[in-house]
Amino acid sequence: MNSMTRVLGIETSCDETAAAVVEDGRIIHSNIVASQIELHRRYGGVFPEMASRQHILSIVPVVRQAMDKAGVGWKELDAIAPVYGPGLAGALLVGLNTAKAVAFAHSIPLVGVNHLEAHIYANWLIPEEDESAPPTPTFPLICLVVSGGHTDLVLMRGHHDYERLGRTIDDAAGEALDKVARLLNLGYPGGPVIERIAQGGDPTAFDLPRALQVGAYDFSFSGLKTAVLRLVQELQPAQGIDSEPRGQKLADASVEGSGAQLPLADIAASFQTAVVDALVTKTVDAAERFGATQVLLAGGVAANRLLRAEMARRSPVPVRCPPIRLCTDNAAMVAAAAHYRFISGVRSGLDLDVVPALALVNPQHHA
Ligand code: KG4
Ligand code: ZN
Repeated sequence: MNSMTRVLGIETSCDETAAAVVEDGRIIHSNIVASQIELHRRYGGVFPEMASRQHILSIVPVVRQAMDKAGVGWKELDAIAPVYGPGLAGALLVGLNTAKAVAFAHSIPLVGVNHLEAHIYANWLIPEEDESAPPTPTFPLICLVVSGGHTDLVLMRGHHDYERLGRTIDDAAGEALDKVARLLNLGYPGGPVIERIAQGGDPTAFDLPRALQVGAYDFSFSGLKTAVLRLVQELQPAQGIDSEPRGQKLADASVEGSGAQLPLADIAASFQTAVVDALVTKTVDAAERFGATQVLLAGGVAANRLLRAEMARRSPVPVRCPPIRLCTDNAAMVAAAAHYRFISGVRSGLDLDVVPALALVNPQHHA
């Protein structure tokens, strides 16, 4: 599977408007991400209608910037690759329709991309600072896809060959991090703030449940979330939870200062360790059982340093993860995934529609 391509990836599935130009699915020529985090922070999560409106404002400048930075013209593109699912319908529509307009106007092939596949293919990208160009991942491999909306454990025997071994039966890992952060009034998104606050805490301070007994490779995080809620209620029976968000700055301060109220660092560290332990235990089991040559991490939660370190420590085979900035939503990963679809002959029609609940294994999406 090799042929020179230049692909423009477009990502608008949630709260990042992103565009990137990638060569051969690996070399990043530009990777522009306009984040809406500040906009959504005040709501404690993504506000879908606002996300769509912001994508509409950002998409043209972001695509222009990606093309300018890469120094390519439309005629030098082999494909335009928008994400068409999973994600928020109104948000996905902005990227998909923009891509269709450009594809139609300049007669460039359109290749619709599954957002989860894009997260996985971030592992094929060569990190910009890496001059040694690591070899591409080897099959069979086990990939743990952990994002705000998904927690999937997948066996890949080759390109585009996904066998989903397990998934979350309730909250996704990122969703659990976001919900517990909201519960502790730490702000949005929860993963990075929990990671930061946990640094000063004792991960053995509180014994929280791991839910390892659910289906062999399925995950469950809602019990853990409830356990944190109960813990907080026990520790702070009179006050309950503050109604005023502590915000990021206050969260820092509360670790030492107002942290006298709640041992936030210890709670965050114990909770983070419980999430990571459940994820690593099942991934490592699957890697052993299915004779994987590698373990791949993918999705926003793969940015978590404890998850990366524990997986590397406990896995019987080498662990790969994208550089941290390529774990969270971006369009370089979209272009990378599109390259491998494109060279296997996939082309999408201009009638391609958004599929908000698109799964990783979807017959429509196979070549
Ligand atoms: O993949 P992503 O950017 O968007 C989705 O496709 O959902 O993932 C976002 C999720 C959020 O739940 C966020 O809290 C989590 O990834 N996240 C992290 C970290 N950075 C982002 N979780 C743990 N540690 C991090 N450093
Ligand atoms: Zn994502």
